[in-house]
Amino acid sequence: MCGIVGFIGNKKDAKEVVLSGLTKLEYRGYDSAGISLFNSKFRSFDIYKDFGRVQKLIDLTKNTLKSNIGIGHTRWATHGKVTKENAHPHYSQSKRFIIVHNGVIENNEELKSQYLSDSFFYSETDTEVIAQLIETFTKQLNVENAILTTLKLLEGSYALLVIDTQTPDTIYAAKNKSPLVLGKGDDGITIASDLMALLGYADQYIALADHTFVVAESDSVKLYNLNHELQPLIYLEIDLDESSTDMGEYQHYMIKEIYEQPSVVRRIVQNYFNHDKINISADILKDIKASDRIYILAAGTSMHAGYVGKYLFEELTHIPAEVHIASEFAYHTPLLTAKPFFLMISQSGETADLRACLLKTQKLNYKTLTITNVKTSTLARESNYFLELFAGPEIAVASTKAYVAQVAVLSILCNTLSDQNIDLIKELTKVALSIENFLATQDISSLVHDKITKRNCFYIGRTIDYYTSLEAALKLKEISYIQTEGFAAGELKHGTIALIEEGTPVIALISSKEISKNTRSNLNEVISRGATTMIISLANTSQESDDIILKDVHPLLTPMVMVVPTQLIAYYAALERGNDIDKPRNLAKSVTVE
Ligand code: F6R
Repeated sequence: MCGIVGFIGNKKDAKEVVLSGLTKLEYRGYDSAGISLFNSKFRSFDIYKDFGRVQKLIDLTKNTLKSNIGIGHTRWATHGKVTKENAHPHYSQSKRFIIVHNGVIENNEELKSQYLSDSFFYSETDTEVIAQLIETFTKQLNVENAILTTLKLLEGSYALLVIDTQTPDTIYAAKNKSPLVLGKGDDGITIASDLMALLGYADQYIALADHTFVVAESDSVKLYNLNHELQPLIYLEIDLDESSTDMGEYQHYMIKEIYEQPSVVRRIVQNYFNHDKINISADILKDIKASDRIYILAAGTSMHAGYVGKYLFEELTHIPAEVHIASEFAYHTPLLTAKPFFLMISQSGETADLRACLLKTQKLNYKTLTITNVKTSTLARESNYFLELFAGPEIAVASTKAYVAQVAVLSILCNTLSDQNIDLIKELTKVALSIENFLATQDISSLVHDKITKRNCFYIGRTIDYYTSLEAALKLKEISYIQTEGFAAGELKHGTIALIEEGTPVIALISSKEISKNTRSNLNEVISRGATTMIISLANTSQESDDIILKDVHPLLTPMVMVVPTQLIAYYAALERGNDIDKPRNLAKSVTVE
């Protein structure tokens, strides 16, 4: 994970650009932050870094002089504890080379023992190895060749920015697997982990390919492959709107994003339905129709949307579908059918576990469709096809609106492939209205205060509600730190019911008449053992005493509305505990390490 930003230019202060970029990239990790800036008075580079957030770095760098060049980092620790020493930037032994890095160098121990057995290390990170190697190779080579030689030795992932303190008018950059974009604007060159960090400082960008090496000066950019051969510069226009990243009147991004969900569903309808035409390419539909099994690959919340996708595929298209944890699939590929089709679901489009799956499917010569919120992302660019979520930037680490958008887009895809022809313009509009009605009429904060009182909790549901219960549980645990499990309601009694004690909260999701009786009787089983229960239901299957009742929607679309109260339960439980809701501990929004 981690976010990196570098700037070189003549007009703007590099500190302003780098700190603004780091603030926008903080969702990628927030264990520590650091920056290196050129000090024109002493003609040397200063380094400021510490554990903690970017705000601490902003305070630390209050009185610096204007600088034409700087590189910065916000960290999600992979190698080495969260300490000042392990915060980036790192430097080589003589401090000639300063470096920030996103990624993991898997062979760092081997490189240390092979090339650097005499070197002194300042930190426990894998990153420092890169700086030390570059310095070692400059004994025989010029700087560009020393960096290229180093890059060829690295196994793993990296997005790197390197400064040679002897040439303070150049930033060197390199990329393999971890994302890196280069932006060009009137004020100079900005290089960062994602486009958001370029906003305001660049009009055009290049999404750098793997095995790229860059030499950037304020008015020139040279792009090379690892054989030091020049590559063409192909810039694209940046069309991101900065205002969509504001928190507006809300206290947290998460609550803003929960409330945005009705408009996200409507935006998806607008973008996918053009009069009577569906905006999904005929090639995607043809390839899926020709397949005999859909393999859905994803992680976390996106994987939970994938489970709903499996349900939709099987109900609507009758093509069997299976869901795989991305980090498992890449290294333990199941037996594949004769005509598999691969579908990846990812909010960020950058998840490294999925990228590993993509490399695998490409190697096997199979086609892949990615459903993602970020159309400029690595997975969107590298898959054969992609479908956009149109959810707008999701900033809170806990995913909410992207999940609802994923299920909405999956429903459109499956319905388009099906002969059932559900009127999705009407049905998705009903979904938006049901969510809107719930958000406008039901205040659940006191319910959460009264019932979510223990250090553990269970969500239960059957069939499609089971999938929602998995997502509900993930949301509650990741931001409230309450240990929560999502369970198939009928399965609880086969062992896990042993954990039910006096007051243990058990929340049942009941969206259809078909399973209502069974789930309610499972609830009675836990009530008999002292559980505190809560019921979230849809109107058609509700009982007067249910705690949260949502307006009905089409039976296949219920996950989009059933999930919303569970998002709010997580939000209020975390708020009550005083947790950092948008940046929960130990997490990062975009998981770019495997
Ligand atoms: C949880 C959450 C994560 C992500 C997961 C995959 O709220 O957001 O579980 O869903 O890290 O990320 P993407 O969807 O970007 O591939």
